[in-house]
Amino acid sequence: MKICIVGASGKLGKYMVQHCLDLDYEVVGVCRQKSVVKLDEYKDKMTLLPGATNDRDLIKQAVEGCDGVLTVLVPWGIQQYASGTAQAVLDFAKPGARLIFSCGWHITRDGEDVYSSLFKVMVSIAAKIGRFFRALEIDDQVEACRRIFESDTKWTVVRGSDLEEGESQGLPVWSHHIGDPILESNKTRRIDFALFMVDAMVKDNLIQEAPAIVGCQTPSALAHTP
Ligand SMILES: NC(=O)c1ccc[n+]([C@@H]2O[C@H](COP(=O)([O-])OP(=O)(O)OC[C@H]3O[C@@H](n4cnc5c(N)ncnc54)[C@H](OP(=O)(O)O)[C@@H]3O)[C@@H](O)[C@H]2O)c1
Repeated sequence: MKICIVGASGKLGKYMVQHCLDLDYEVVGVCRQKSVVKLDEYKDKMTLLPGATNDRDLIKQAVEGCDGVLTVLVPWGIQQYASGTAQAVLDFAKPGARLIFSCGWHITRDGEDVYSSLFKVMVSIAAKIGRFFRALEIDDQVEACRRIFESDTKWTVVRGSDLEEGESQGLPVWSHHIGDPILESNKTRRIDFALFMVDAMVKDNLIQEAPAIVGCQTPSALAHTP
């Protein structure tokens, strides 16, 4: 399998690179020029295309011939970075390719997610502060996901809980809606978020789904996994 990882140099991206190489996938990565050094340890094992992830020409080149595209949807800066990246992947990935996008729990597909008041306040504050300092554009990640949800490609939007570092605990469990009891612990190891993203490429039941994930060893997962 040939896989493209858009945002390969970040924390999530590097874990995804490692998981893909472990599976003997051929890996093409896209990351900013200044971050190429972060992937030094993989330079002989993958193809790296430096540049902005919302550069349409670059994404067209990167996804060519790929069976799957794993995309870190980042809302950094006020430049439609997330929606530009998502749109380029949707436009240029080959028909039938599996397209897996990462985001947080704040993204809702059908409006049936149930959020705590604290969560809603935190997202609203982060969006306002991010916009004020022109550092973060959470609304644009929402727009990116809206476009993905409307697409007829084989997409999956993986909605990550709060993240932590640490050894892998195994494939996270998931549910359709925030507020479902199994998700209550709201914690996933970042290495396992990456594992879920990579594994989603071969799971047909995740096509056109927006799974919300949580670590499989968390109390809520252990209490509610059948
Ligand atoms: N952090 C959380 O608690 C959390 C929770 C739930 C879901 N998520 C989701 O997980 C994914 C990755 O999150 P993460 O925390 O693990 O971060 P990460 O992997 O470190 O990813 C951050 C990404 O943003 C890029 N980036 C940083 N600054 C940028 C800028 N100014 N312009 C363009 N790109 C920039 C990084 O590229 P460089 O290597 O070039 O800097 C990297 O690819 C995102 O989709 C996020 O929504 C995160």
